[in-house]
Amino acid sequence: MNANPVTWESGTLTIIDQTLLPAELKYITLDTLDMVWSAIKQLQVRGAPAIGVCAAFGVLVGLKERHPATLKAARHALGIVADHLATSRPTAVNLFWALDRMRSVSVAGDSDDAPSQFLAALEREAQAIYDEDRSVCKRLGAYGAPLITDGDGVLTHCNAGGLATSGYGTALSVMFCAHEKGRRFRVYADETRPLLQGARLTTWELQRAGIDVTLICDNMAAQVMREGKINLVIVGADRVAANGDAANKIGTYGVAVLAKAHTIPFYVAIPHSTLDCALPDGDAIPIEERDGAEVSHAFGRQCAPDGIAVYNPAFDVTPARLITGFITESGIVHPPFSDRLALLAGKQGNP
Ligand code: MRU
Repeated sequence: MNANPVTWESGTLTIIDQTLLPAELKYITLDTLDMVWSAIKQLQVRGAPAIGVCAAFGVLVGLKERHPATLKAARHALGIVADHLATSRPTAVNLFWALDRMRSVSVAGDSDDAPSQFLAALEREAQAIYDEDRSVCKRLGAYGAPLITDGDGVLTHCNAGGLATSGYGTALSVMFCAHEKGRRFRVYADETRPLLQGARLTTWELQRAGIDVTLICDNMAAQVMREGKINLVIVGADRVAANGDAANKIGTYGVAVLAKAHTIPFYVAIPHSTLDCALPDGDAIPIEERDGAEVSHAFGRQCAPDGIAVYNPAFDVTPARLITGFITESGIVHPPFSDRLALLAGKQGNP
């Protein structure tokens, strides 16, 4: 049932075009570096871990296109291709983490040697990033599942599901696992303006899995909490700083404030690869600002006057003090976060 948003088979990179969901489940192949870059930029592939995985395979696409004749030329091309992919989106650290892993691949040999061994090693590394992400998401779900008990209402924001990873997801992996264990609960999915990842993707995934899911507009969360329908919030993240401040889809911070006001536990589900302990706190996390047309012309329909000024930050930062815990592939991390997250960051790529 789990969606497979990124696949690499016989040297071909295929993704689900997530901009078309839920109306159409369409797979497209990314044959050039420009196609990979634009698929990430346009959110055809999205979600922090999936962006990293797609970029790792995207490196292979870019290198193939360049036909490097020697090891030296291949190493040079790797740098150019990785640098270009790194400009696609700024917030999800998994993109830079995956590209750094690809850049660190090395093989012995003279610079004039044929690059075949190097290319094979790069392919193994991209595949390892993919495989690790799948198993990490499964483990993370198993650690988080006991948080959900029978009769719970669980709120989530954006899409941190199988579509946002190599499979299973982060926040949704917790729900898939609890569901497999027979737990009966209801998920409230925020629609997630402006691009509606919650309405289009999260409800699609949960409904396919047979999980009880109810869609709400973002501005309904307070009322739904006040009515006592929510016992737990679980979201994903794109980058978590050393102190535990967590960047996630715009609107997450507001949900965390509401959860605090209603004494509802607020959990962030992340693989270690989403940790960026080089940044002291959330103020240092780069926040992507996207085209105002996403707000004023949502899904091709004009919904604001011509010429209106629009501010469209795609992410916000939830301060660590509002976070009850991080659900990771090593277990659940509670405050104080700094030392514990630093330990996990050291385990990156080697969970
Ligand atoms: O802009 P998007 O759709 O890439 O944003 C995605 C999110 O904010 C997710 O919650 C986050 O990447 C975690 S995905 C496991």
